[in-house]
Amino acid sequence: MAELILALDLPDRDEALRLLDKLDGALGWCKVGMEMFTHYGPQLLAELASRKLKIFLDLKFYDIPHTVAQAVMQTCSLGVDLLTVHCQGGQRMLEACIAARNDRGKKPLLFGVTVLTSFAAGEMPGITAQPQDFARSLAALALTCGLDGIVCSPQEVRDIKHDYPGLACLCPGIRPAWAGLGDQRRVATPGQAVAWGADYLVVGRPILKAKDPRDALLRIGEEMSRPF
Ligand code: C5P
Repeated sequence: MAELILALDLPDRDEALRLLDKLDGALGWCKVGMEMFTHYGPQLLAELASRKLKIFLDLKFYDIPHTVAQAVMQTCSLGVDLLTVHCQGGQRMLEACIAARNDRGKKPLLFGVTVLTSFAAGEMPGITAQPQDFARSLAALALTCGLDGIVCSPQEVRDIKHDYPGLACLCPGIRPAWAGLGDQRRVATPGQAVAWGADYLVVGRPILKAKDPRDALLRIGEEMSRPF
């Protein structure tokens, strides 16, 4: 069964905690990204962990191998469950990340970001490949380097799962038929993403901006249980 992760992309910690109060019991995972982590840091993570939420720390590390490996090592002490690095950092960077993580045990899961779901074809600077082809080659690299999974568009997940069934796939760019597109481009509905093989769905604005976020969360969960 695929897991639903709420992206806590909010400017304010108290607002985020009030929202989590409303979702209590209906949510298993949340995602902390650059915005929240830059402002509130490890303290926020401890607060989320005390609510028994699993944490996806989406910092998308991308730098030289040594720097990223050191950052991964520091993250291992934060108690998060899943962490992202950019596959475009290349083989040496990815292998250094896995070595750093394995040195500290098996947690967190390390997922590689392939191509951001906000990129439409032709928008990636200097890259002439189509996003789906580029994502596929980065997925192959992630597997070679021993990553636990990748982040990709739901529009690419079916092909990637077909070629690399052992790779877990986490998909943002989830848009129920009743929600707006925002800046996302390569999107799918929750039912499509699950049917195409996604293991984790990350959803932000369709829940955050809903009049009734709990209802939106439950509706998405319901759509995930009826993949088509
Ligand atoms: O609001 P929305 O549902 O578009 O949020 C999607 C979340 O997934 C955001 O937090 C965004 O940073 C993240 N994400 C993404 N594309 C990726 C990786 C992460 O949209 N490739």
